[in-house]
Amino acid sequence: MEQAKQLPPILEGYLQLADAVMITDDKHIILDVNKEYVDTTGYKKTEVIGQQAGFFKSYLTPANTYVSLNEALQAKQPWKGVLINKKKCGDLWHSSLTITPMKYENTFYYIGIFRELEQLKEGVYIPENEKAGTERELLRVLAISCEIRDPGIEDHLLNVQHLTEQLIISFQKKHSSRFPSAYLYQIIHASILHDIGKAGIPEGILYKPGSLAEYERKIIEMHPLMGEDMLSKISTGLHNDFIKSLEVAENIIKYHHERWDGTGYPYGLKGEEIPFEARVVAIVDVYDALISRRSYKDSWPKEKAIEYIIDQKGKHFDPELVDAFMEMF
Ligand SMILES: [Fe+2]
Repeated sequence: MEQAKQLPPILEGYLQLADAVMITDDKHIILDVNKEYVDTTGYKKTEVIGQQAGFFKSYLTPANTYVSLNEALQAKQPWKGVLINKKKCGDLWHSSLTITPMKYENTFYYIGIFRELEQLKEGVYIPENEKAGTERELLRVLAISCEIRDPGIEDHLLNVQHLTEQLIISFQKKHSSRFPSAYLYQIIHASILHDIGKAGIPEGILYKPGSLAEYERKIIEMHPLMGEDMLSKISTGLHNDFIKSLEVAENIIKYHHERWDGTGYPYGLKGEEIPFEARVVAIVDVYDALISRRSYKDSWPKEKAIEYIIDQKGKHFDPELVDAFMEMF
């Protein structure tokens, strides 16, 4: 068994800080904590030393916070963020944590400095998970209210969001460092808004059974641009930091009917000219439409819909995303 490391004397000075401090070794085993940490959390030093740094997690911190924390620590970079941990008595502890890697005699140590958010002098603190939940709910209500005339729409929108999440997870497995995780979460949040522009299309055209006349098709094809216009009106005055997903949403709304080979609408963009977020939603939107019943068509069996997606690799859809899509089944 590997011997537990000792705290190098040179790092002991950090334990004198007024904030709660935790020092771990390169395997994130706790080597020491200071008095402020003990006073705040209620854990004795002997209960903490030798434990994994995450032992007092509350599981209320959003998963993407841990993703960015792990990415930074693996790269031996400092990290700053908000964590929700549990004190010994069971109370939640919201803290702003800064972790700094320190190299000493060829070994890395991590100095974690916790500042209680309740002690911050200015502003109102909204926990990250509450903020993300509010944002998700706001976008859901917005999406559904735009398409309230279609009773089955909520299921389709939530399916598209769920499939977007699955496709992104599958893509991440193969291309883990291509995009920052915060951006990928924004795509998942914003995907629900892809068709808000349909609110501007007359019902007689939108739900017409059977085939559409040329002019009717042209009107339906205006929904990405109508959606862009609606979003810009809705978002005026909203704090951009609160609704971070809106820029991503705009790209999804505008470009989700573009095709990889340049034959889509409204702009006829080609390949990587189409924003990644719109290429993701293009696949899941078509797949969910194929396996659902609509006024003008029956539902397709999943196998047939998957075959169609494969057939459209490099034509309608981004080939890399089709590969990731296949991994979902
Ligand atoms: Fe659409």
